[in-house]
Amino acid sequence: MMRQAGRYMKEYRDVAVKHPSFRERSETTDLICEITLQPFRAFQPDGVILFSDILTPFPAFGIDFEIDDYKGPMLEKTIRSAEDLKMLHEVDLSKVEFVADSLKILRQEVGDEAAVLGFVGAPWTLCTYIVEGQSTSTYKTIKSMCFNNPEVLHKLLSAVADALAVYVGFQIDAGAQVIQVFDSWGGQLPPHMWEEWSKPYIERVVRKVNQTHPGVPITMYANGSGGLLERMATLPVDTIGLDWTIDMEDGRRRVGDKAVQGNVDPVVLFAGEDAIEKAVRDVCRKAGPTGHILNLGHGVLVGTPEESVKHFFDVSKTITY
Ligand code: CP3
Repeated sequence: MMRQAGRYMKEYRDVAVKHPSFRERSETTDLICEITLQPFRAFQPDGVILFSDILTPFPAFGIDFEIDDYKGPMLEKTIRSAEDLKMLHEVDLSKVEFVADSLKILRQEVGDEAAVLGFVGAPWTLCTYIVEGQSTSTYKTIKSMCFNNPEVLHKLLSAVADALAVYVGFQIDAGAQVIQVFDSWGGQLPPHMWEEWSKPYIERVVRKVNQTHPGVPITMYANGSGGLLERMATLPVDTIGLDWTIDMEDGRRRVGDKAVQGNVDPVVLFAGEDAIEKAVRDVCRKAGPTGHILNLGHGVLVGTPEESVKHFFDVSKTITY
């Protein structure tokens, strides 16, 4: 389940009281492992997802950031000009050693009981933070740059894509058996712009990883991807993550022979056991017997009852074909 470790779990909130900084929780090996394993122990999912953030690798290639409790990520320096690009440097994996250390421990802890999943943000999504300097609802600065300063933005996206390919390989070497690419803000682009500003850079990451680490399955997820599905399916990835705004039957048809992941509406987990069971069965029936990773259509929401998450997993285990 996307974001299966996190704030909806009491055990997690208890850790957060003792360690109030999200950077500390997501950058300290013992805490990462403990938090990642909380849902594994509670629900026995088939996949264990590294507790981390899409911004975690930033310092490894020259981008510093802080997290404000209210505003989210804040970058002191943004990249908007050719001069600013000098801030970037070759990937220094020693800055993210805790990621590899955690994945190694997690592989040992879960053994053959579950797959260990790593993830990265898509270059476009990460660059929204690098250019805007913080979260945005309009993407005004970066989208304007697409028109007014395309060379610099293309250079930035290329550099970030190359750094991410190294970071993904590093996660795989350490024990990640599946990688998910989150283009969380890809759906903010008109499809023809996604073709130019996001897709080629996801492709750049995936092709490099397919070369250095062949055979590791890669899932591509974009939030709000209804207008993008056919385009996403042309990427050299194995699985397309579907958000909950698309009917599974339509999604299946639109991505052709790729595997699919998803796509139960995360809000169904607030609606009680019968609704959960119906939603899970409905999605599984529409997805069919093979090439489907049951999941939510996006991450578990804060406030979701833990019993509902348990019920989701319990129901999924009763489904046979
Ligand atoms: O599409 C996706 O699901 C990926 C989503 C995503 C993550 N980080 C993964 C994540 C995005 C878009 C980010 C960027 C980011 N990092 C944001 C979003 C800001 C925006 O633009 O809307 C924020 C707030 C951060 C920093 C951060 N990440 C905080 C403060 C927290 C909450 C930590 C806490 O315990 O209070 C997170 C959590 C987070 N981001 C997780 C993941 C997988 C862990 C699970 C969770 O807490 O939900």
